Amino acid sequence: MKICVIGAGYVGLVTAAGLADFGNSVICVDKDKSKISDLKKGRMPFFEPGLYELIRRNIKHLSFSFDLVDSLKSCEVLMIAVGTPAGKDGNPDMKSFWTVARIVAHDLKISPIEEKIIIIKSTVLPGTNEKLRKYLKRATGRTDFHIVSSPEILSQGSALKNFFYPNFILIGTDSQKAAKIYTSLFKNSKIKKNKIIFTSPATAELIKYAANTFLALKISFINELSSPAELIGADISEIGRVIGMDPRIGSEFLKAGAGFGGSCLPKDTKALLRFSARKRVPLYVLGSVISANERQKQVVVKKISGRLGGLIGKKIAVWGLAFKPQTDDVRDAPSIDIINALVKKGAQVRAYDPRALKKAKAVLPNSIKFSHSSYGALKNADVLVIITEWDEFKNPDYDKMKKLMRRPIIIDGRNALNPKTAKKAGFEYEGIGRK
Ligand code: UGA
Repeated sequence: MKICVIGAGYVGLVTAAGLADFGNSVICVDKDKSKISDLKKGRMPFFEPGLYELIRRNIKHLSFSFDLVDSLKSCEVLMIAVGTPAGKDGNPDMKSFWTVARIVAHDLKISPIEEKIIIIKSTVLPGTNEKLRKYLKRATGRTDFHIVSSPEILSQGSALKNFFYPNFILIGTDSQKAAKIYTSLFKNSKIKKNKIIFTSPATAELIKYAANTFLALKISFINELSSPAELIGADISEIGRVIGMDPRIGSEFLKAGAGFGGSCLPKDTKALLRFSARKRVPLYVLGSVISANERQKQVVVKKISGRLGGLIGKKIAVWGLAFKPQTDDVRDAPSIDIINALVKKGAQVRAYDPRALKKAKAVLPNSIKFSHSSYGALKNADVLVIITEWDEFKNPDYDKMKKLMRRPIIIDGRNALNPKTAKKAGFEYEGIGRK
């Protein structure tokens, strides 16, 4: 059984390499020729821990191509894993998805292979499975294909762990044959059978949005609670840790901080809101999740401005630009909005990130200075702001910092430091929702 994974982004590349690791024969296709040529040379298009080694290890079963028409010819199973970024109106931009659908239709028209299985991995709005089925039927006159909605639940930075030890694998289809064949792709894996969940396509489509928007909800909830916590001198990290001990609540995604970012949580929350509004079933709770997240970034800006007594001409060192540690991705990263707000109010920013400097440079204003070391960013700074909790920031050399900075002030937007240690070292310290 040969698999064609369409799209060599985070989801496509990890899925292709992972399935190859289970002994399947996989071809991963992307229209971006330079990406494919890099992959063929063993160069990675983005940073994801362990992915390079996984690809190298499976190079016998895994090939790369930019020719989708040709690649589809020999494949029985197709996985669509192209990006569906946020469009201008808050809906996912489905251009790449439907371009692929047209090429799949062309393939179905000419292919002698019967009963091809088309698996949708991309995050798409509920109803897309049905739309694709109708489109392919109309465009090809064939009905012997199967469509499966199998949205991916990978997190950047831990994508390999999520792939090999998933909480669940979703197989949303009405076709028993497709379900059986899809399940067989995992036969050489250690994934337990009870992790494979079969649902209808519509349920699978909505599960993806339910999962991501619920995570966003948890974060916005704890972020919002950090303000009353500060007011009464309580510690939000303790609150999150303790309520998380109740399995009905769960301890993950209860870390207060500078807001959630990335290519999924913000986009998917907005998309589900839009979708439901269009269907005239407004989602009031989710509306607040987005506004609370926007406000949270401004909370950090206000803390900085409050400590410094205004921002005009102030030198601000920023540690962390990626939307979270272990990635070089800055899409919708809180750092971007926070830095833009600081600059707009007259501050000068010098930023450092262990991985995301290149991508951040491409989206931040030219006036931002970048440093290639964490301590380099601190020279003459009036304040240090931590926006991403990389491990290397967690136990800093406070003496060295004090010598470099003009004023010993830290605004810890991720509660990454130990406040007692920072204060003992002579720093003014302010975290989120704690003293
Ligand atoms: C998210 C989901 O977690 C994955 O399950 C999903 O598969 C993926 O989207 C997707 O749809 O493809 P990801 O975007 O990689 O994964 O990032 P998360 O780990 O969810 O983090 C998102 C943001 O929330 C980050 O900015 C992080 O700093 C923030 N966060 C997370 C908090 O502020 N507090 C927390 O307690 C946890």
